[in-house]
Amino acid sequence: MSVPPTILVFDSGLGGLTVLREIVGTRPDAHYVYVADDAFFPYGHHSEEQIIARVVPLIGELIAAHAPDLVVIACNTASTLVMSHLRERYQVPFVGTVPAIKPACASSQTKRVSVLGTKGTVKREYTRALIRDFAQGCEVTLVGSAELASLAEAALSGGDVSDRQVSAELAPCFVGDGADGLSRTDTVVLACTHYPLLMDRLVRLAPWPVDWIDPAPAIARRVADLLGRPGGEADHAGAEMIFTSGRPHTLNRALMPFFGGRVPA
Ligand code: DGL
Repeated sequence: MSVPPTILVFDSGLGGLTVLREIVGTRPDAHYVYVADDAFFPYGHHSEEQIIARVVPLIGELIAAHAPDLVVIACNTASTLVMSHLRERYQVPFVGTVPAIKPACASSQTKRVSVLGTKGTVKREYTRALIRDFAQGCEVTLVGSAELASLAEAALSGGDVSDRQVSAELAPCFVGDGADGLSRTDTVVLACTHYPLLMDRLVRLAPWPVDWIDPAPAIARRVADLLGRPGGEADHAGAEMIFTSGRPHTLNRALMPFFGGRVPA
């Protein structure tokens, strides 16, 4: 392992930054390479075959180019498909991001849980199996959103995203009589890494208060477990951010908080 370690964080776009932010908190010493596959965004609109054919070789190229000590697939739409393929093909340790259905169902009081993800993620056999295995008597509602990831990208880039647009994507998560606190949805799984980018809005626009389950802290703990304790030496090279489209990123300063205060090159 290199000292300090290099961690490559991969997503279809800017959503994986919400995972990166947590990982940086646990391993501030590491060197970070963040890769947004914006040339193929949004993954939620592609077929399973297309995503596997795109992501598996691309990760191979990124491993060859950056020699990471660990790779985080910070994307549910990809992780629910590609993890076994990646582990078969490459020696590097991988951490994936999959819907946090088990902890959500374990903590729900009303036994009504919604899973908000891309249309791809909610269709996956992987997600259905998580519900079969871990629903623990909860009624789980799958909500596939066509637009929320793109709205989150637009909002982070300073674009105009209306409350009405966000509310429309959110509404199907809220099941039951809003006036009856004992039987309505009380927990929503954020099964797309883009959605925590809109956290303030989600909280404000929710018809009633719910627990929002973001898997990023658990992913950061898993990364820390795999890498072990931080060494004495910290990365001073700065973080890197790569868009597969090759477009220059104009968001440097806005992205600093996700990189633990560093300006990504
Ligand atoms: N950030 C991705 C996820 O966690 C998906 C967004 C997309 O490309 O559709 O599922």
